[in-house]
Amino acid sequence: MGLLSRLGRDSRLLRIATYGEPVLREKAIPITEVTEEIRELAEKMTTTMYENETRGIGLAAPQVGVSLRLVVIDTSSDEPPPPNASPGELLLEPRMPLVLVNPEITGVSAATSVYHEACLSIPELSGDVVRPVTVRLKTQLLDGEVVEIECGGLLGRCLQHELDHLDGIMFVDRMDEEDRAEIAEDLRILERQAKKRLSKGRR
Ligand code: NI
Repeated sequence: MGLLSRLGRDSRLLRIATYGEPVLREKAIPITEVTEEIRELAEKMTTTMYENETRGIGLAAPQVGVSLRLVVIDTSSDEPPPPNASPGELLLEPRMPLVLVNPEITGVSAATSVYHEACLSIPELSGDVVRPVTVRLKTQLLDGEVVEIECGGLLGRCLQHELDHLDGIMFVDRMDEEDRAEIAEDLRILERQAKKRLSKGRR
């Protein structure tokens, strides 16, 4: 697949696209078949998520320059699940890291919560984002299994953040105006750096 030819085949880690790179604003396309290339991409994304300077809990393919609907996620922890854990946390977290192929959110709770989000593509910035507390996730897994399940907690939050990436949306777009104004200059700097890098042909 031509899209994947951009990846350095021999490197274990993938370069993470940063704010201002157009690929982060594209609507990613669905995966029609889980090929060996897709598996390889997912594996490299997982390694990249874990071994980034700030360890990530999720990474979407557009963040490594590939505009496909693929997400890797690991919101598991060593702690036992809380008593109010959602079915999705109970089912999926023991199986993490997990690769989600063409994931969708098919429903959201009316209740919302605030959480301080960060993103590997927006280094050193973070901010409060209001989102639904739980979402209904429908996704294919790498082995073809399809799951549809209610996800809350950190998993529900992370899913919404990562799935946004597949539609070219970043968490700063969802911050309130006042908070965003405070980081506007930092975002402009990131954008300028990205443009400079791209114009030098180093993508
Ligand atoms: Ni992100």
